Amino acid sequence: MLSLHSFYNENGMLIFKTKEKLINHLTLLKAKNLSVGFVPTMGALHLGHLSLVKTSKENNDITVASIFVNPTQFDNKKDLINYPLTIDEDIKLLQSELCDILFLPSVSEMYDQKVSAQNFDFDGLEFEMEGKHREGHFDGVGTIVKSFFDIVRPDHSYFGEKDFQQLQIVKKMAEKHDLPVHVHGCPIYREEDGLAMSSRNARLTTKQRQEASFIYATLQKASALFKKDTIENVVEWVETEFEKNPLLILEYFTIADVVTLQTATKKEIEKTYRGFIAAFAGEIRLIDNIELGQ
Ligand code: PAJ
Repeated sequence: MLSLHSFYNENGMLIFKTKEKLINHLTLLKAKNLSVGFVPTMGALHLGHLSLVKTSKENNDITVASIFVNPTQFDNKKDLINYPLTIDEDIKLLQSELCDILFLPSVSEMYDQKVSAQNFDFDGLEFEMEGKHREGHFDGVGTIVKSFFDIVRPDHSYFGEKDFQQLQIVKKMAEKHDLPVHVHGCPIYREEDGLAMSSRNARLTTKQRQEASFIYATLQKASALFKKDTIENVVEWVETEFEKNPLLILEYFTIADVVTLQTATKKEIEKTYRGFIAAFAGEIRLIDNIELGQ
């Protein structure tokens, strides 16, 4: 049994590879009324992930992060095989943020014998945008996040607005399944040139990396245009900009209602909108989004 005090060691971070050991340890902490914040990740950590850990540290007694490349949320098996694994660096980064606990399970630990996803009903959120382009993705996300919530039983959990649809879906899951967790969204962390930080950015060639800042630059211009023009014109303008750029292939640009995530065609009073984009740089699929307001 690990010492209850070991998490006070500023240089140490407890690493658990099994559910049972993690649950036992957290049970001891919860008996002391310590609040638990949880940050699930798939590793290859960058400052975006670490900003979630920071927010959790500021607001909870104990912060648990997980690293698990979840096979059931990858519709594209090549993407799963190529997903970057940088576990030694990840551990150092989490330690530098004084993360208390890392959960690092294997696939068999999380899925027993059957590596498959449950079916979820997210009131239609799952059929929009990423749901249209990545079959089964959100069932995979729902399955693993629900398992993590059942194991960690966090008071608070932190998700990036970078994956805004995922954030809304996790909130919906917590609400529909009456899960005793507060789900929080955190702002998108960006590179200096505006590119949203992503584990996939490491796979871009130098040229693609340079060009990728075009995505956020275009979103910002679209946001300015949205204030004075129609949704239809903004969408058409973005599509035309991408047609002029041979290095980035636009998969979709959608202006959607932040609550239903349904594509909007005209502005309605009291609704709030966001612009969502997915584009390919070669084989690498990049997503981003921007607040548009009303
Ligand atoms: P992953 O892509 O590793 O992201 C983990 C968390 O970090 C997510 O909440 C994501 O939105 C957030 N994040 C990623 N890039 C960010 C950025 N630039 N700024 C702020 N936050 C950022 O999302 C997943 O893993 C998985 O789907 C997971 C939730 C772990 C389930 O497997």
